[in-house]
Amino acid sequence: MNKTKQLLLTASLLAAATAAFAQSPDDAVVARGRYLVENVVGCADCHSARNQRGEIIPAQHLMGAPLPFAPTVPMPAWAAVSTPIVGLPGYTDEQAVTLFTKGLKPDGNMPRPPMPQFRLTEEDARAVVAYLRSLKK
Ligand code: HEC
Repeated sequence: MNKTKQLLLTASLLAAATAAFAQSPDDAVVARGRYLVENVVGCADCHSARNQRGEIIPAQHLMGAPLPFAPTVPMPAWAAVSTPIVGLPGYTDEQAVTLFTKGLKPDGNMPRPPMPQFRLTEEDARAVVAYLRSLKK
C-alpha cells in the first residue's frame, strides 16, 4: 500500500469512527441526567413504587409512591408519599433548576422531608431536567 492510499484509508476509518460515536449535544445531556438520576442520586429510592419483594416496579418508575420507610424520630412535616416526576409536571425548566440547585420550590419553600434539599451544579440540574422530560410518555 502506498502512502496516499494509507492516508485515505486512515481518513475514512476516522470518519466512520466519528460518525459511529457522534451524539447530538442533547443526547449527551440526557445521558448525563440519566446517570445522575439512576446511578448517583437514586431518585427512584423514593419516587418509584415497589412490589412485595421490595423491587421497583418498572412500569411505575419515577411515577411517585408511598415511601417504603418512616422517620425514627417524630417529623411533623414528613411527606409519606412522593410525587410523580416523570416529565416533571407543573414545573418550568427554570423552576426545576432552582429546585435542584437551591432546594427551593416555585413558592420559595423547601419540599417536605425526606425530599433532600439538593445543591446540584446548574449543569447537572439541567441534565436531570432534560432526562426527566425525556421520559414523558
Ligand atoms: C429520600 C427520598 C427522596 C429522594 C432520594 C428524592 N426525592 Fe423528590 N421528593 C420526595 C418526597 C417525599 C417528595 C414530596 C415532598 C412534599 O410533598 O412536599 C418529593 C418531591 C419532589 C418533587 C416535587 C416538589 C414539589 O412539591 O413541588 C420533585 C420535582 C422531586 N421530588 C424530584 C426529585 C428528583 C429529581 C430526585 C433525584 C435527583 C429526587 N426527587 C429524590 C422524596 C425524595
